[in-house]
Amino acid sequence: MAHIQIIIGSTRPARSGAAIGDWLVKELNINKHGLSFEKLDLAQINLPLLDEPLPASSGQYSHKHSKEWVSKIAKADGYIWVTPEYNHGPSAALKNAIDYVYAEWIHKPVAFVGYGGMGGTRAIEQLVNIASQLNMAPLTARLHVMDPWASVKDGVLDKSYVKGNIDGFVNELAWWTNALAKARKS
Ligand SMILES: Cc1cc2nc3c(=O)[nH]c(=O)nc-3n(C[C@H](O)[C@H](O)[C@H](O)COP(=O)(O)O)c2cc1C
Repeated sequence: MAHIQIIIGSTRPARSGAAIGDWLVKELNINKHGLSFEKLDLAQINLPLLDEPLPASSGQYSHKHSKEWVSKIAKADGYIWVTPEYNHGPSAALKNAIDYVYAEWIHKPVAFVGYGGMGGTRAIEQLVNIASQLNMAPLTARLHVMDPWASVKDGVLDKSYVKGNIDGFVNELAWWTNALAKARKS
């Protein structure tokens, strides 16, 4: 079964990202589409700011935390990057986690969940550029959570604030994940 990692990109105390991640995992497990899902929460993984002497494209790592993160990412066939919008961009924590990895991202699809006043659209657009540079397939499978300061109450997301169709989102991700997994093997 193709495996998808859901990377939760915000790390702040009292963040909306935790509730949005919980909601997403629950929805995706209902809408399985032959995929398995795993949540990777950057607040728990707690990577330091990139501290490798060589770029990830060298494939050489000197720190245990880098090797663990990279070998975790290597296990997935596709990804969902969940990002808040901070000053019209993605979170620094998410960009930092992306920058630790190179070969393990290549030729794999990534779908996006963004949140903010405009549903995180501007943060997602920056991530699309970053994914392109990594030779990934950045998908139009996107979900937008509007106004996280209002849509998350007591740690629970009110799903009426979610824009986008979750069935279509998972279908598209499943198609690309399966197609690229087959292509990577050939
Ligand atoms: C540093 C910072 C910058 C922000 N900039 C934006 C922004 O440019 N656009 C936007 O829609 N919301 C912005 N917000 C509001 C966030 O979208 C909102 O607080 C969201 O809940 C942040 O995600 P988090 O709680 O998971 O960290 C910003 C919030 C922070 C903390």
